[in-house]
Amino acid sequence: MRLFIAVEFPPSFRRAWQRGAEAVRSRCVRGSFPPEGNLHMTLCFLGETPPERVNEVIAAMDRTDSPPIPLTAGPLGRFRSRGGDTVYRAVEAGEELYRLQRTLASELAKRGFSLEERAFTPHLTVARRAVLSEGASLRGLSSELPPLCCTAREIALLRSDLIGGRRVYTRLYAKALDAEATHSTP
Ligand code: 2AM
Repeated sequence: MRLFIAVEFPPSFRRAWQRGAEAVRSRCVRGSFPPEGNLHMTLCFLGETPPERVNEVIAAMDRTDSPPIPLTAGPLGRFRSRGGDTVYRAVEAGEELYRLQRTLASELAKRGFSLEERAFTPHLTVARRAVLSEGASLRGLSSELPPLCCTAREIALLRSDLIGGRRVYTRLYAKALDAEATHSTP
């Protein structure tokens, strides 16, 4: 099973998000645009995982102890790649998000999961293998996108399947971010 742990977003956020994504799409000559319903922010990517290890992933999630986390989708950025850039909206958040992600990664590592070494860059992918139209710039486009705010209240373990050529995510488990968690208050 291809697994990852992510924050999902409510329909009202996704609808507002989609308006911004359409604006970006209209300035791309090509690219692959994930559907609104698949919007998520990845915290840890596990990749191919034997089904019998799902319980260990859940145990790692249960070891986290974070309050709900305010998030803002901000300006556009890109990950450069030979196959075409990934265009994303950067997610701005306080230290709680980074602490949650570090705890999760370390609890997974303790259980023998090997995660990517690259630094955590909270983001929401707008387009993969994207090529912008001539004259369009991420900075210019960013100025047209109002910031979008939301509070993450849970993290979810998602399974990713390719079904009939479409990416389908199935939620296997969710861990609530507990309003009573206090350790992250400075
Ligand atoms: P992306 O949005 O930047 O493409 C499900 O595939 C999620 O896991 C996506 O959000 C994707 O990030 C992320 N993902 C896919 N492959 C990954 C990898 N090798 N390392 C880290 N994250 C990955």
